[in-house]
Amino acid sequence: GEPTSEKLVELAKRRGYFFQSSGSYGGVGGFYTFGPQGAALKGNVEDAWRDRFAVAEGNMEIDAPTIMPEPVFEASGHLEGFDDMLVECPDCGESHRADHVVEDDTEYEDAESLPIPEVEEVIAEYELVCPSCGAGLAGQAVEAFNLMFATNIGPGDSQPGYLRPETAQGIFVEFPRLKEYARNQLPFGVTQIGRAYRNEISPRRSIIRTREFTQAELEYFVDPETDEPDLERVENVEVALYPASEQQTDDGEVIETTVGAAVEEGVIGDPWVAYFLGVAKPWYESVGVDMDRFRFRQHLSGERAHYAADCWDAESEIDGNWIELAGFAYRSDYDLSKHAEHSGDRFTVFRQYDEPKTVERATVDPDMSYLGPEFGGDAQTVVSELEALAGRDRAAFEGDAVEIDLEGETREIPVEKTGFAVEEETIAGEHVTPHVVEPSFGVDRLVYTVLHHAYREDEVDGEERTYLELPPEVAPTFVGVFPLQNDADLEAQADEIVDDLREAGLSVSYDDSGNIGRRYRRQDEVGTPFCVTVDYETIEEDQTTVTVRERDTTAQKRLSVDELAETLTAIREG
Ligand code: GAP
Repeated sequence: GEPTSEKLVELAKRRGYFFQSSGSYGGVGGFYTFGPQGAALKGNVEDAWRDRFAVAEGNMEIDAPTIMPEPVFEASGHLEGFDDMLVECPDCGESHRADHVVEDDTEYEDAESLPIPEVEEVIAEYELVCPSCGAGLAGQAVEAFNLMFATNIGPGDSQPGYLRPETAQGIFVEFPRLKEYARNQLPFGVTQIGRAYRNEISPRRSIIRTREFTQAELEYFVDPETDEPDLERVENVEVALYPASEQQTDDGEVIETTVGAAVEEGVIGDPWVAYFLGVAKPWYESVGVDMDRFRFRQHLSGERAHYAADCWDAESEIDGNWIELAGFAYRSDYDLSKHAEHSGDRFTVFRQYDEPKTVERATVDPDMSYLGPEFGGDAQTVVSELEALAGRDRAAFEGDAVEIDLEGETREIPVEKTGFAVEEETIAGEHVTPHVVEPSFGVDRLVYTVLHHAYREDEVDGEERTYLELPPEVAPTFVGVFPLQNDADLEAQADEIVDDLREAGLSVSYDDSGNIGRRYRRQDEVGTPFCVTVDYETIEEDQTTVTVRERDTTAQKRLSVDELAETLTAIREG
């Protein structure tokens, strides 16, 4: 039959999960609005993420602006390198991502890593065609297209700004302040849940690839030499791993193992990445991702972002395709070093030694004014060149003269004139630039996956029904309350129950329109775990009970009104 995705997108619109934005104006590709159910589900998923990755791990959460000035992205490398490859169809004029054209049609898996001329060659060699109109793409120029949305800050165009392409930069640029809140102690983590923007060339598959989306990111700052994760907490977590080595062979397989074994056997190289995979797997399961359609896949070397030293993705299967839900990247000191270099601010933490250390330090004469006339007065440059040389190559001072490079010319300086000396110094510690481990989650794709994996069709009393088997913890509506018929007494009793349940913190949908079967179907499609029906038995004085119907089994039982809120709250809390 029809793929689940198509039915799901239709259901999502009908029942208020998500739909394309600005529909009155024809809509625009890559922008979606979460309707009442979708916003609630997304909010529940975000809350669950916050509970696990911020609160339970003892990490801080911040909320930074979505627009940042140009120098931030000069430093981060996004201005220069956050590009996708674009190819335009000569016939219909539509633009496509060149590496997707390549991937889709040839199973050429590592296309993102290819340089532009090679992508052009692959397109020509395999006679690839435009996905929209079928025209041949051979011979079309492939160009780099920067994905950032540009804007101007204030009137005029003197201060360019960009909508952030990842929430991460909002954390990195504040590191000099954030480390103070962490009392200058590594390791510490900072999280953020917020919007990110990418001017995707070809947004597709509804909310899976959009131009505005929500990320939930954790930037975990560690001292690469001294910090280690507490792997015991996750070592028994079972994971399905698809390492790069397996992807590169024809009969490569997904490895079923535990986090502990994967670290021991070197399948996952970095213990911090392993730790967060171990935290993430049970969390994904708890929000409703089907673990039979979930795996961690390691990036191939050419596939990694410009900042990543190693990266694993969490992936879910949707109608036979694997999509990326999250990336777990080892970003080393790339970002903090770049921001230090570009801003001049301090992006380091002081590592205090257990005991002060005595070290030797090579110095040169800090005053070489006598060299002034000889070098055209630029003695300062000579001093700094000599200092740098002394710091990295003391042996160079063992002869009669040292050589340094001055504006392209090699100069010889007699060693006795440099004032070279080796001094002992006692130091209490050193400034280190932390390394960053980054679990980066896409929320929209996760919401899509949760809905897709919850989608069910069955037959009830000879009638087909569709329902969403959402975990009670994330279901946007927890309980539907229905008066059996249009009757003032039944409605009054139902109103009272609604008030009680809302007071207990449950999200309730009151529905008195249509026959009871239709009302059940409506809640089934929304994924509401329970429906409560108020009937005549309820309002008979000595029997204040209601019918409670369970979504997945459609089993019904009677429960006393007094214990209703308590029973349902306990289920909701898991
Ligand atoms: N800070 C790291 C980072 O941004 P990424 O792999 O580019 O890494 C992280 O993005 C996650 O954000 C992805 O795994 C995906 O779930 C989500 N994401 C990225 N681009 C997206 C898009 N165009 N639409 C929806 N989600 C997207």
